[in-house]
Amino acid sequence: MTYTSPVPVTDGHFYEGSSLELVDLTMAYGDIDVLRDVSLTVAPGTTTCIIGPSGSGKSTLLRGVNRLHEPKSGDVRLAGQSVLKQKPDTVRRRIGLVFQHFNLFPDHTAEQNVALALRNVKGLSKAESLRIARERLAEVGLAERADHRPRDLSGGQQQRVAIARALAMEPEVMLFDEATSALDPELVKGVLNLMAGLAQRGMTMLVVTHEMGFARKVADQVVFMDEGRVVESGAPADLFDRPQSERLQRFLSEVL
Ligand SMILES: Nc1ncnc2c1ncn2[C@@H]1O[C@H](COP(=O)(O)OP(=O)(O)O)[C@@H](O)[C@H]1O
Ligand SMILES: [Mg+2]
Repeated sequence: MTYTSPVPVTDGHFYEGSSLELVDLTMAYGDIDVLRDVSLTVAPGTTTCIIGPSGSGKSTLLRGVNRLHEPKSGDVRLAGQSVLKQKPDTVRRRIGLVFQHFNLFPDHTAEQNVALALRNVKGLSKAESLRIARERLAEVGLAERADHRPRDLSGGQQQRVAIARALAMEPEVMLFDEATSALDPELVKGVLNLMAGLAQRGMTMLVVTHEMGFARKVADQVVFMDEGRVVESGAPADLFDRPQSERLQRFLSEVL
């Protein structure tokens, strides 16, 4: 697969991603720590991919960054400022999150789904929110599908609507949690290409993925997690071709 030709970009939009820093982040559900002292830095405009077995704490990490689940200790810094000192709504506007399941409103068109978020979160007028919604949909290659409802779109197209909805907030960082895992195989590439295009155009991205080809080609940094800790991190070629730990060697032998 190649990730060098993103879906057509009509407006040549460039992003100014902010830095994202996790400092000794520890997270728990009840008494059980599921993330322990995780530190990592995502430089502005770069992409970090997180890989690791199921249950290793990848989703929990993203939930902590976005304040969907409050960290137990440690810090998350966006552009150098602690997100823990900001309102959760502010954080979620500045940091977009795309899940495996798209959560679009079924009775709204693609354009209405994106516009609704803009009106609710940003308080924009109907006309302005629809104008921006159409721009963002064009950007993800769905200009011709703006009037379609989710049931008339493929899974890949629905996921691109969800990405357009997140982009419409003008986030400084985008988080992806297995964004292609629920898609039929033939639809995966289009979404990965779109994500690669965002990376190329300056977005700061933290991407949890099982797509090792994507991680190798697109990531500036790959982080391997196991049992709530970062086991290894580094450039894709180092991690994939010269894994140091036995755990990463075993993981790669299972997934590649
Ligand atoms: N809401 C929750 N309540 C209790 N435990 C949870 C909850 N969500 C996840 N966990 C547990 O936390 C650990 C990390 O889960 P998760 O972050 O979802 O891992 P991953 O995304 O890497 O598969 C797992 O042991 C999981 O069972
Ligand atoms: Mg997960």
